[in-house]
Amino acid sequence: MTTAVLSGLAAGAEELSVWPASTARLPHGGLTVGGVSLAEIADRFDTPVYVLDEGEVRARCRTYRAAFPDADVLYAAKAFLSRAMARWVAEEGLGLDVCSAGELELAVTAGFPADRIVLHGNAKSPRDIATALRLGVGRIVIDSLSEIARLAAAVGPGGRQKVMLRIVPGISAGAHEKIRTGTDGQKFGLSLTDGSAQHAVPRILGRPELELTGLHCHIGSQINDVKPYVSALRRLVGLMARIRDAHGVVLPELDMGGGHGIAYRPGEPSLDLTALARRLRAELGASCSAAGLPVPRLAVEPGRAVAGPAGVAVYRVLAVKRTAGRVFVAVDGGMSDNPRPALYGVRYAPRLIGRRPAADPCTATVVGRHCEAGDVLAAEVQLPGDVRPGDLLAVPAAGAYHLSMASGYNLVGRPPLVAVDGGTARLLVRRETLDDLRSREVGD
Ligand code: LLP
Repeated sequence: MTTAVLSGLAAGAEELSVWPASTARLPHGGLTVGGVSLAEIADRFDTPVYVLDEGEVRARCRTYRAAFPDADVLYAAKAFLSRAMARWVAEEGLGLDVCSAGELELAVTAGFPADRIVLHGNAKSPRDIATALRLGVGRIVIDSLSEIARLAAAVGPGGRQKVMLRIVPGISAGAHEKIRTGTDGQKFGLSLTDGSAQHAVPRILGRPELELTGLHCHIGSQINDVKPYVSALRRLVGLMARIRDAHGVVLPELDMGGGHGIAYRPGEPSLDLTALARRLRAELGASCSAAGLPVPRLAVEPGRAVAGPAGVAVYRVLAVKRTAGRVFVAVDGGMSDNPRPALYGVRYAPRLIGRRPAADPCTATVVGRHCEAGDVLAAEVQLPGDVRPGDLLAVPAAGAYHLSMASGYNLVGRPPLVAVDGGTARLLVRRETLDDLRSREVGD
């Protein structure tokens, strides 16, 4: 093979590095995921459409189980949840992290064992708490002082609910200010610095309706570095030792939350899970032995790193506009199915599928169909110079926080979700129709 061919192959492999592992090229520029052609999915289910590779989700769950064999791995349902997703995750031996009665009820009615579910939330509604208690959720994570009495009252005399305490360890991490939750000055958890974390402990221990099983933290999201996790863990073990000293209670569990980063574009970093597992285990062993504490059972809560890389969004180009020296490629979705670029400035790598380009690449901005100028899906990306209406564009790393954050803006309707596996495609969530939207209108 010549060097040119070899480097061409290497470039091709790089280009698919953020796609599901099952992704394969077809002649004439097509791509298959899970053995199914994306262009065929677009024809069969219409666009925009989200494709989720079941094999990739399951493989990612297994990678976590292998990296954390002695820990509980809880999938964070907020990244994406459907009945099938709940089933896959349960079958792969993971637990679940939910943050509403809706997520909880959907998971449990899909057969997810309630005792493997943890409920979070900085503002749990009476319905969230009642549903959690009715369904027998495994743990409830207390996020504020006022929640203690409220939860104890809801449990009632004679009852006993396992709870954890969410701590703000004072560690800054996360890709964007809006997804950093490890420091004071944001809404989640109880602060170590102002003493509210320490203050909460005796109040929980004083309630016979509540059983404090451990501490919890979630320092942020889309984190690619192991160090902040290690620092947070050290601080939490420090608090565990102080709780033992002050109250004679040894907490058996420590939940380090999620936030594990993924690559959205080729060449971007992602969190090294094996390194994370190794460093957390080592730090836990060392800090606990220094403090004379038994090693608590560890839990992690990945959402994005399980679902994100398994998903692909497929859009059809509706218009191409060349203006003021720029090329705008407008597709049939946008900020209503993916608000992430607008919210966090995230960059994506869309790609033409379904045909071979006949022109050199040009720099283009992929925009949505919504009525505002900020509806940009991918700014300044390379697309074939002959991109035109009718073409299909696919966006990888679209499995987490796209559909789960989709909105009803402009009454466009949320896209469907199709699962692919072993050469077959099946609809998991259908498209939202005008009838769906209309059916919510009950007044004149
Ligand atoms: N555990 C807790 C308590 C959380 O609040 C979260 C995410 C997770 C686990 C899972 O984090 P992950 O592993 O998925 O990063 N909408 C944003 C992400 C918000 C994350 C909120 N909490 C985005 O699109 O990037």
